[in-house]
Amino acid sequence: MFEKIDDYPVDPIMIGAEYFAQDPRKDKLNLTVEIYQDELGRTPVLKSVKLAEQHLVDTQNTKSYLALTGDADYCRVLGQELIGAGLYDDSFVAAQTAGGAVALRVMADLLAQMPTRPTVWLQTPTYGNYIPILTAAGARFRSVPYYDTLRRDILFDQMLEGLKEAQPGDIFLLQGVCHNPTGADMTPAQFDALLDLLEARGIVPWIDLAYLGFAQSFDADCTMARQIAARFPECVICVTLSKSFGIYRDRAGALFVKTKPADRARVLRAMSAIVRAGASHAPDHGASVVRTILQDAGLKKLWLQELDQMRQRVARLRLEIAKIEVQNFGRNDLGYLAHQSGMFSLLPVTPEQEAALTREYGIHVVQGGRVNLARLGDKDIEPLLRAVHNVTQPNQGR
Ligand SMILES: Cc1ncc(COP(=O)(O)O)c(C=O)c1O
Repeated sequence: MFEKIDDYPVDPIMIGAEYFAQDPRKDKLNLTVEIYQDELGRTPVLKSVKLAEQHLVDTQNTKSYLALTGDADYCRVLGQELIGAGLYDDSFVAAQTAGGAVALRVMADLLAQMPTRPTVWLQTPTYGNYIPILTAAGARFRSVPYYDTLRRDILFDQMLEGLKEAQPGDIFLLQGVCHNPTGADMTPAQFDALLDLLEARGIVPWIDLAYLGFAQSFDADCTMARQIAARFPECVICVTLSKSFGIYRDRAGALFVKTKPADRARVLRAMSAIVRAGASHAPDHGASVVRTILQDAGLKKLWLQELDQMRQRVARLRLEIAKIEVQNFGRNDLGYLAHQSGMFSLLPVTPEQEAALTREYGIHVVQGGRVNLARLGDKDIEPLLRAVHNVTQPNQGR
């Protein structure tokens, strides 16, 4: 029977990792990784996380099942942190999930199982796992432009124009800060204009937050979610704590759905049924670590300092690339990186130039030109700039 199984496409990030492993060159550079790394290429466990884990070892006295929607305390503490204590109330139905991917999947299932499936509108480009998740759930989706790689800019007007085709009751899946893969976030004025359009056309906002704390600070990075929650009677917030707490494999995330009062109990039952039939109960460890940190002033302070160090490292690398390019090469091709945020950005390369980067310079990037800048050491900046200049040279003046 298994001969009948289709050949599934492999995630480009996994393909990138495989090519990197096979590359025999010693001076190769892997910019495909999905995680934060320090200057030594390590992703250590945060001290605040270690302390919270120790506290759990000392105090946790049961590992029995929780509700299908997880630990209510974790959801409440996280909801208040994200959305604000004054705004986070009973209108939100919340579920603890195994990282951000499962929060997205539960929401996709919820939409796909509605009698009339709304269309999910996506930005192009966007996080590579949205389409596989929506497809696996059987959700309907369409795309609007978001960013032009070669122009190095957000296609804001085209995005709004595209959304004019959405019907009332459709839903727009957008990312919060540190847009993956572009690194390009909307300005506050653009975001306001987007919300005006969504509100005017009855489109529900669905925001996905994966890099809180990597743009300005954890608190400031929650602003978009708070604005949406304050303005819309119905909205969706997905969050992963994988990056913000460095607990990737522990799988902590959450789904928050803001509903009208009459729909609340039904949405909760639907969400519980979907969780039961899918991933079932979310793992507890990562969520307990997050809850412990958020509930302890000392641990929270330490975690925010550690998060800030990660943010500052990536921000410094971005500035450094722009500075070295001007000082040492007299050029400003990658200066836009200094104005973007988070770990990822897209190099302004065509598919052929991207292939040449790997073939000729051993620089491995994710298909489409995505690089993880957190992977760079100071010594890597000049070789990266030289390689990008060399492969893009023939297209100067475009
Ligand atoms: C935008 C975005 N959403 C969601 C996720 C999923 O995160 P997790 O690993 O917690 O499932 C990621 C991970 O890279 C992401 O970049």
